[in-house]
Amino acid sequence: MSHKKVAILISGGGSNMVSLVESMTGDHPARPCLVLSNNADAGGLQKAAAAGIATAVVDHRPFKGDRAAFEEDLVKPILEAGADIVCLAGFMRVLTAGFVSQFQGRMLNIHPSLLPKYKGLHTHARAIEAGDAEHGCTVHEVTPALDDGPILGQARVPILPDDTPDELAARVLVQEHRLYPAVLRRYAAGDRSRLDLT
Ligand code: GRF
Repeated sequence: MSHKKVAILISGGGSNMVSLVESMTGDHPARPCLVLSNNADAGGLQKAAAAGIATAVVDHRPFKGDRAAFEEDLVKPILEAGADIVCLAGFMRVLTAGFVSQFQGRMLNIHPSLLPKYKGLHTHARAIEAGDAEHGCTVHEVTPALDDGPILGQARVPILPDDTPDELAARVLVQEHRLYPAVLRRYAAGDRSRLDLT
């Protein structure tokens, strides 16, 4: 069986990337082919290299906001690696419709909220501020609209009375590391049904 090839895009520590990489073994239908970052200092790059995975960096800063020009360089290592699936994992750049259209239907993202609630940033603080009883994470297909594509999976955590945003984020992150690998395994096998982890 030929494995699906997965490129993972990161901007920071890459804990979700590590979870995805560690899950792609044995009878898993996919294997990592590239870890790509917009940040040369992203801690996840060392972790990927240590795992023997090809890495690449395309720094967004020289492009000074010219998103299309940045993405013209960003897409090259993904195509060169022959990726079948792209996973955004703590990737902190907004992608244009032009980039997304090249991968729509085979690009996933994990977002730290129970979408459609709290698209965008600072999701943990916003959930606490709103007085929500629960929070969580969502894996969705990437479409041109930010944090908006078809939901492929969710995991929930309680918000505790004196939670700080960091404490809540840490509780959600544990679930991210369960959810993303579980969704990717199904997705790579062609199963796009929604998974709600308990
Ligand atoms: C996580 O909260 C994830 O939901 C968000 O980026 C944060 C850091 O992710 N997308 P990672 O540790 O770099 O995977």
